[in-house]
Amino acid sequence: MYLWLHIIVALAMIVLLIVDLRKENGSLPVAMTIRTLYLVMLADGIYLAFKAWHRAPVLVSFKIVASILVIGYIEYLMARRARNQLRQSDYYIAAGIIVLLVILGLFTAGFRPWIHL
Ligand code: HEM
Repeated sequence: MYLWLHIIVALAMIVLLIVDLRKENGSLPVAMTIRTLYLVMLADGIYLAFKAWHRAPVLVSFKIVASILVIGYIEYLMARRARNQLRQSDYYIAAGIIVLLVILGLFTAGFRPWIHL
């Protein structure tokens, strides 16, 4: 259940990030919603980390560090969007690291939601 919450919130965040980045000057309400969702991800992720630690401590450690770095990068993106200073390369880096994070998350979770429906 908490794993599904994590993945659903991750998808919602990605959709909202695309909405924010596509808007001239960004959107403050959307940015604030994304920040609220980080908190949900953080609480849910910490709970998941305790549950998954015995199974994959190395992957869980990488996942936590990578997630925090990606959250930092999303903050940087939204700040640059608000000032209309985004570069083309920012989009590619964001897409790349978010896809890698999702793959790392699914790998850490052993692709469970899809296997044990
Ligand atoms: C940008 C924010 C984040 C994204 C996009 C993200 C994405 C994901 C995804 C897609 C999964 C796989 C879930 C599944 O298979 O249902 C996952 C798993 C996981 N995430 Fe995140 N996550 C984020 C933030 C966090 C944070 C902040 C933490 C902890 C502090 C965290 C800890 C974990 C852990 C421990 C797992 C593995 C759970 C398990 O093996 O049972 N995540 N994440």
